[in-house]
Amino acid sequence: LKHLLTIEALHDNEVMGLIKRAQEFKQGALTPDHLKEYYAANLFFENSTRTHKSFEMAEHRLGIKMLDFDSKTSSVSKGESLYDTVLTMSAIGVDVCVIRHWEENYYNQLIQSKTIRCSIINGGDGSGQHPTQCLLDLMTIYEEFGHFEGLKVAIIGDLSHSRVAKSNMQMLNRLGADLYFSGPSQWYDAQFDVYGQYKDIDELIEEVDVVMLLRVQHERHDSGESFSKEVYHQTYGLTTERAKRLKSTAIIMHPAPVNREVELADELVESYQSRIVSQMSNGVFMRMAILEAILEGKAKG
Ligand code: CP
Repeated sequence: LKHLLTIEALHDNEVMGLIKRAQEFKQGALTPDHLKEYYAANLFFENSTRTHKSFEMAEHRLGIKMLDFDSKTSSVSKGESLYDTVLTMSAIGVDVCVIRHWEENYYNQLIQSKTIRCSIINGGDGSGQHPTQCLLDLMTIYEEFGHFEGLKVAIIGDLSHSRVAKSNMQMLNRLGADLYFSGPSQWYDAQFDVYGQYKDIDELIEEVDVVMLLRVQHERHDSGESFSKEVYHQTYGLTTERAKRLKSTAIIMHPAPVNREVELADELVESYQSRIVSQMSNGVFMRMAILEAILEGKAKG
């Protein structure tokens, strides 16, 4: 693996290999010694807590040397482009850049460069894709059910603005899950019909194995697209009343940050059916597996 840019670029066996390796790290597998020779830079041009800090944690645990980068105090503030920033990272010896950027497909010009040699891991590109979140979500589902085939998964909320939804719908569909979508119809795109069926949340709630809620992304909305918190919660959210209708074996997921009392009721965030905290913990182990796969791919040339 040279780069991780989109989820669909991974073969099924690569996805399963990363899940198994992440599970080994979770169970305490020793980290390979040779990764200590590598350098990583985490370039975040959009805000992040989980992706940024769990990559840092994964890099610490693998012994990879990490360069600090803050776009606000870097030469980006003088107008330097993303391309020239990554060119610089590569020139000074960085082996892998984890990048979050507001521009969809920002990585295309980076991977076409003949001069940039470092690997790129996509930590989220605008409303495009979030492949590392998808992989940690898959790990969390696999940990629970041991398979994907035939699982009923509902992805609910701000679908059109969500890179998490786009990565997850593509891979879950390919792995054999039955997908359903719900949320405001204006945030649904008919292109998603190839992956699953759009339904009202009340038609789905008793049937599904996984309820994956999405953050309402106010920062990506035009004015006039908003709902009051209460209206959104009652119409599209996982209320305590709806949660009572879930199968006892169903799990609740959310990539976070959560808007409590909007996408789901406050008390459900840490409830026994919620896997939101596990998703955050699994993020570290999955990102260890991804960094190892990228850097070992590099070692093999
Ligand atoms: N889930 C996720 O990507 O969270 P952050 O924006 O905090 O990284």
